[in-house]
Amino acid sequence: MSQDNVIEVEQLTTAFGSHVVHQGLDLNVRRGEILALVGGSGSGKTTLLNHILGLQQARAGVIRLFGQPVESYRGAQRLALTRRWGMLFQAGALFSALSVYDNVALPLRELDTLPESLIRDVVLMRLAWVGLQAEDALLRPSDLSGGMVKRVALARALSLDPELLFLDEPTAGLDPQRADEFVALIKALHAQLGFTVIMVTHDLDTIGALATRVAVLAEKRVLVEGTIEEVMQVQHPFITAFFHGLRGERALGARTA
Ligand SMILES: Nc1ncnc2c1ncn2[C@@H]1O[C@H](COP(=O)(O)OP(=O)(O)OP(=O)(O)O)[C@@H](O)[C@H]1O
Ligand SMILES: [Mg+2]
Repeated sequence: MSQDNVIEVEQLTTAFGSHVVHQGLDLNVRRGEILALVGGSGSGKTTLLNHILGLQQARAGVIRLFGQPVESYRGAQRLALTRRWGMLFQAGALFSALSVYDNVALPLRELDTLPESLIRDVVLMRLAWVGLQAEDALLRPSDLSGGMVKRVALARALSLDPELLFLDEPTAGLDPQRADEFVALIKALHAQLGFTVIMVTHDLDTIGALATRVAVLAEKRVLVEGTIEEVMQVQHPFITAFFHGLRGERALGARTA
């Protein structure tokens, strides 16, 4: 495998019963990039993430994470692997009964090796990373605005300092200003920490501001992966509708000129 790929998907075929979702799908995710995964509703974006995370079994094909087939990680190796990635779920998925502090501390406590004093330092540092104050640590998820929920979820996803960050619709549900702030935050943290990002998003502003490459899911496979400019040159009904519609011209206009 190439040293530069953190994820390699080769000829993936997946299906639910007789419903084939992916057929002969190839995808490479390069170290340090921010890859946007786009595709119509039901095209299999979430299913693909689940396969990469090893949560679902493929019918055929290979998925390599850090050079090794995902199903070959077992036991302690699998546990170590899960610590190399962070996942930001669409709805934030914070535990409502836990404070902000305890939500961010959770992955650190699961390590079962860190003293509470160190956990405290890491939690406060992660909250600072995402622009939250120490006093926010005492709040419960129900006390938070939508933008703050995303920040706390991001702090938790980054708690173990992952190499790989999965974002599922990171700006969905945020108003335009909060969405812009969140995008700027991810961009700054990416520049500072150098992790690799795979994000599923429908939001062209987010793609335009953040993505270094785009992969388009259509016809059960990755139709094209490349820079926004490269992808926009491909003739396909989904690409025309998604990138060249009014919203596309508004968000990415400068790139089409
Ligand atoms: N557990 C499941 N059992 C049966 N079918 C499923 C299951 N999960 C997903 N599917 C089907 O697989 C296809 C791909 O679903 P998936 O959720 O991956 O799409 P998506 O690209 O993430 O869509 P969206 O943009 O709406 O989130 C859909 O047709 C969906 O109905
Ligand atoms: Mg989905």
